[in-house]
Amino acid sequence: MSKPANTDHDIHDVLSARWSPYGFSDRAVDKAVLSSLFEAARWAASSFNEQPWRFLVATRDEPEEFARMLSCLTDGNQEWAKHVPVLILTVASTKFERNDKPNGSAWHDVGLASASLAFEATARGLSLHWMGGIHRERIRSEYRLPEGFEPVTAIAIGYAEKIEAVPEPFRKRDRSPRTRRPIEEFVFSGAFGKPAAITGG
Ligand SMILES: Cc1cc2nc3c(=O)[nH]c(=O)nc-3n(C[C@H](O)[C@H](O)[C@H](O)COP(=O)(O)O)c2cc1C
Repeated sequence: MSKPANTDHDIHDVLSARWSPYGFSDRAVDKAVLSSLFEAARWAASSFNEQPWRFLVATRDEPEEFARMLSCLTDGNQEWAKHVPVLILTVASTKFERNDKPNGSAWHDVGLASASLAFEATARGLSLHWMGGIHRERIRSEYRLPEGFEPVTAIAIGYAEKIEAVPEPFRKRDRSPRTRRPIEEFVFSGAFGKPAAITGG
């Protein structure tokens, strides 16, 4: 199943193809493909090359580990994510290793690495669904996160498919149109809120 963005301007196919499905097929993700996804994350840019991202991964072929990670998601997310083949938790290292000072870019850079992972996945025909609906305290204790490490998101990865196993309202959301605010509402020049001329505003 695909749901390409209906764009106002030309963008690369890998960007328009990425979307967040709820229905995933049972098809497992090859270990070599997973390694490529983390390799893509590895080469993301980061403030002072700190590489503050950490990933915890669980696949359905390890049912105990999978159930453990699933329990770190909110109930609503568990309902559909229990069908995905791969779950990931993203974690940020919040201090610079070189001087122990707070890294104000840590969450940004975890997002950047996750985006690299997402586009590598999309280019390989996989889909991802990020989740902010996670139990942060539970993640901290289940995985014994050291001091200075913060849970950021969970990510479901697999092959998007229209499947009956996914309950409503998720199936309906998979069928609903994708929407975005127009560029004029978030690209400004001269003053905050003043649409940039480049956007035609
Ligand atoms: C950081 C982040 C957190 C999200 N959290 C959730 C979540 O907890 N549950 C969920 O169903 N979708 C979640 N989403 C998915 C968004 O709802 C989705 O990306 C957005 O509606 C845009 O749709 P698209 O990704 O298909 O373009 C999250 C996305 C991001 C980037």
